[in-house]
Amino acid sequence: MKKWFVPGILTACCLLAILLVFFSLREDEPSGGSHEAAPSATAGEGAATVDAEAATAIYKANCISCHGDQLQGGMGPALTQVGAEMSQDDIHKQIANGGGGMPAFKGRLSDEEINTVAVWLASKK
Ligand code: HEC
Repeated sequence: MKKWFVPGILTACCLLAILLVFFSLREDEPSGGSHEAAPSATAGEGAATVDAEAATAIYKANCISCHGDQLQGGMGPALTQVGAEMSQDDIHKQIANGGGGMPAFKGRLSDEEINTVAVWLASKK
């Protein structure tokens, strides 16, 4: 075992932990200085902001196989402009209940996660 290995890993872990804390603090920050980074959704419940990072993570884990890595569609329809055709509410219902060949995500994703994705998709127009 090389001498630097254990201290190296420890340092890397510490740095990672600091970064994680830093980023989660920044996300929790009330719309203080950072709202230029998160465009707010135009439709729907007014104050809902698009958390594109969280939404893409959920999308990648659950939706990419049918809707494609660029929302271009595949087995399911393209979602690139879904916000122009469906309200945030409709999108939420489609994800929660599925239908037309799409599985329901109600039990698999929390309501909050579905909402995060719905707000994000509703901004695609
Ligand atoms: C097993 C494949 C599959 C998966 C996984 C899947 N979908 Fe779908 N999705 C479909 C199909 C098929 C339709 C078309 C349903 C219809 O025409 O009624 C659809 C429709 C939709 C629609 C409505 C689009 C429109 O124009 O009618 C939305 C929004 C949507 N999916 C979002 C998602 C999201 C978000 C996820 C991940 C949480 C997801 N889908 C996962 C297959 C899938």
